[in-house]
Amino acid sequence: MDIEKKVWEVLCSEEDIKNRIKELGKQISIDYKDKNLYVISLLKGSFIVTADLVREITVPVKINFMTTSSYGHSEESSGVVKIVTDIDEDLTGYDVLVVDDITDSALTMKSVIEHLEKKNPNSIKSCVLLDKPERRRVELVPDYIGFTIPDKFVVGYGLNYGDYYRNIPYVFVVTDKDREEV
Ligand code: IMP
Ligand code: MG
Repeated sequence: MDIEKKVWEVLCSEEDIKNRIKELGKQISIDYKDKNLYVISLLKGSFIVTADLVREITVPVKINFMTTSSYGHSEESSGVVKIVTDIDEDLTGYDVLVVDDITDSALTMKSVIEHLEKKNPNSIKSCVLLDKPERRRVELVPDYIGFTIPDKFVVGYGLNYGDYYRNIPYVFVVTDKDREEV
């Protein structure tokens, strides 16, 4: 696909995202007031949402990153989630919040949560900017959701197409001139 020749349809504007992240940060700050919050961000897709979200959190927060295998250049998940870079510590006493850009099949979030549970955290919850519930292959409802979106391949604000477009400050869907989605 030559993305440059397609129509970019904005799904979540910069303003929408900013406002929603503010709300999520406020809610998380309330919910984790007397806890020991440890945000674990799933690279690469969530680097932007994490950077914006943690700056809206007003309680003490420890931040770390994990890398999981992603779709690569394809739009379909292989169904196998690989932990590429792990958290190298015991999570005893921490209230973990796993942050990702999007939950699609939910295979990533589910396997990351199962993996982190073995490190003995006090609690584990999930936070995603975008949720595509129609695409589920395993049962999972993220605890904090920015936007619930239809089954469309989205790009921008951390989400890639190929190796590009993660830096676009809004979320968009790519459509053909005749309005057919890619
Ligand atoms: P899941 O394991 O199917 O839930 O997918 C999780 C990962 O797939 C996300 O962290 C994204 O990196 C990637 N992904 C899923 N849907 C999209 C999309 O619409 N655009 C870009 N990346 C996506
Ligand atoms: Mg990802």
